Amino acid sequence: MTACALWGLETALVTVEVDVANGLPAFVVVGLPDAAVQEARERVRAAVRNSGYEFPLRRVTVNLAPAERRKEGTGFDLAIALGILRASGQLRTDVRALCFGELALDGALRPVRGAMPRVRHAASRGIREVVVAIENAGEAAACGVAAFGFGSLRDVVEHLDGRVRAAPSSIPPRAEEPRHQVDLAEIAGQETPKRALEIAAAGGHNLLLVGPPGTGKTMLARALPSILPPLDEEEALAASTIHSVAGLADPGHPILTARPFRAPHHTASHLALVGGGSPPRPGEISLAHCGSLFLDEVAEFSSAVLDTLREPLEERSITISRAGGAATYPALFILVAAMNPCPCGHYGDPAVECRCLPEQIERYRGRLSGPVLDRIDLRAHVPRVPYERLRDEGRERSSAVRGRVLAARERSRARTRTRVNADLTVSEVRRYCGVDAETEILLAEAVRARRLSARGYHRVLRVARTSADLAASDVVRAEDVALALLLRADP
Ligand SMILES: Nc1ncnc2c1ncn2[C@@H]1O[C@H](COP(=O)(O)OP(=O)(O)O)[C@@H](O)[C@H]1O
Ligand SMILES: [Mg+2]
Repeated sequence: MTACALWGLETALVTVEVDVANGLPAFVVVGLPDAAVQEARERVRAAVRNSGYEFPLRRVTVNLAPAERRKEGTGFDLAIALGILRASGQLRTDVRALCFGELALDGALRPVRGAMPRVRHAASRGIREVVVAIENAGEAAACGVAAFGFGSLRDVVEHLDGRVRAAPSSIPPRAEEPRHQVDLAEIAGQETPKRALEIAAAGGHNLLLVGPPGTGKTMLARALPSILPPLDEEEALAASTIHSVAGLADPGHPILTARPFRAPHHTASHLALVGGGSPPRPGEISLAHCGSLFLDEVAEFSSAVLDTLREPLEERSITISRAGGAATYPALFILVAAMNPCPCGHYGDPAVECRCLPEQIERYRGRLSGPVLDRIDLRAHVPRVPYERLRDEGRERSSAVRGRVLAARERSRARTRTRVNADLTVSEVRRYCGVDAETEILLAEAVRARRLSARGYHRVLRVARTSADLAASDVVRAEDVALALLLRADP
């Protein structure tokens, strides 16, 4: 029997060898199984009996090969049970298919997390047929193999022995791109924050929105997916794989069509945000891969949790170290954070007086630590909208903005094929973000007056490059640099 091990996103085919020998009745599983795999013995024994088969009253040895690779989780149950039935002559046919799934004590077959990467790996090794739980069949079929989904061990055996002919699952259709939550045209005023959002979408820059309550910060963040380019084939596969591993794939539409937009609450645990556990699962930052991560009320998140964002913001992935090895998940997302300017929310608000003490304000803003703030290229103030503007007509729709974003990304792709402007290396910044002598003076003054670090300086140039791309300009102009500096004001 062949199953597939999953370790983070790493996969390996596992051959389940079963030997039934004379001797005192025993059931041993060897080959570096973790606790959940050891418990497979109890599940398999009960499932075999309760499906109407006999569990051999002899010495049963199961080897999971290659033995040196650690095996995790409950996905080996099905292959172990089938191996025992085959070795004891109750299953008549040799099985070539990849088989995985968890067994319930009553013999029901349950889905497991990570069906997509397992089946993709098996397909790359020439396996053309897969037997899984019904709930995993859509994910398996999406990987281009003949996928058979069943509800119980008994149904699997009847199918394999040819007594009942099941039809393979059809390839699930790609879902339509969903309607977006918020269209930019619904948001009154806020020209500068909208501009910042457009730059964020075009260059993959992180964005912080600061302003009093009720001015549209949450609306703006929720409008971001409506101006991002559609997922390409490779991105769709990568993002869908992570959802599969997290157990969040939609059985009917396992391949994502919309860029992920994840908005974890500030009470979310470290585990939920970053990922981990045993077996490890990806957290919100990886579920946001190829999309955006929205941290609303960012100052309410614990600073320990915010500090863990440093690694993914820099590396675009997260490595979770654990006993027996590390698991790495990708985490390439646009970070959008929103916060009030102070605890009461009205500092700098002409309409309502702020009641906070200066040290309270200081402490509140200090929550977003320097290293994280330093990785946010764009910081926009979101002021109260004057009454007259609330009734404005003729605001630009997201579809128009998205058109500019797509064109800007085309331009940047012509320079660096795979990366957005936010990820330009220092040498690429030197190469592609050159400015004329006059603009250089403007920059030098800003660096001195604002005490910009070298990193801050490069970030300004990357944002300026995106602004120029949006204006279809080959050169970075003075106005691009001025805008980049404006959108880097302190929160
Ligand atoms: N700029 C705006 N244009 C239109 N409606 C707005 C605007 N700002 C706020 N609103 C209205 O107020 C509600 C709250 O806005 P929200 O984005 O949650 O504000 P914030 O996050 O800044 O507190 C929205 O659902 C919307 O009805
Ligand atoms: Mg809000």
